[in-house]
Amino acid sequence: MTDSNTTRREGDGGRRRFLGGLGLLSMAWAGGLLYPVYRYLAPTIPKDPFDAEGKAPVEGVKAEDIAQPGQGRNAGFAGGGLVVFRTPEGELRALSSKCTHAGCNVEFQGGSIHCHCHGGVYDLEGKNVSGPPPKPLTRYRVAEQGGLLYVYRPDKA
Ligand code: FES
Repeated sequence: MTDSNTTRREGDGGRRRFLGGLGLLSMAWAGGLLYPVYRYLAPTIPKDPFDAEGKAPVEGVKAEDIAQPGQGRNAGFAGGGLVVFRTPEGELRALSSKCTHAGCNVEFQGGSIHCHCHGGVYDLEGKNVSGPPPKPLTRYRVAEQGGLLYVYRPDKA
């Protein structure tokens, strides 16, 4: 073996390391490009907002805020918007705040629930009584526990 062969082998090793590093860098670059595409295409499974008992806390309103008959507010829970109110008889109710016409947010207005987008009106049962909404609002069973309000998954109501 001559010195030139030894030098060539050392040069080959350096070239291999360089090409190996370049390959790793290329794979990292390709991964960086493809990951957003994967995230866009991969199905996302929404988290169930209800616990094992089928209930979820109401956010934005407490029982004391709507203690009197005829009081109500827009509120929310992890899965969407609500209208929570007491009927004139004092019964606690919760309806989805998503209008069944085009999905606008409805608003409690004492004796009825109104949608300002196209003039839809619902009664306190959630039934569509005027305007374009094609069906009633989803009704949730609502309960008070320790001053907080909870709604239940509609199929467990
Ligand atoms: S979205 Fe409510 S009436 Fe059209």
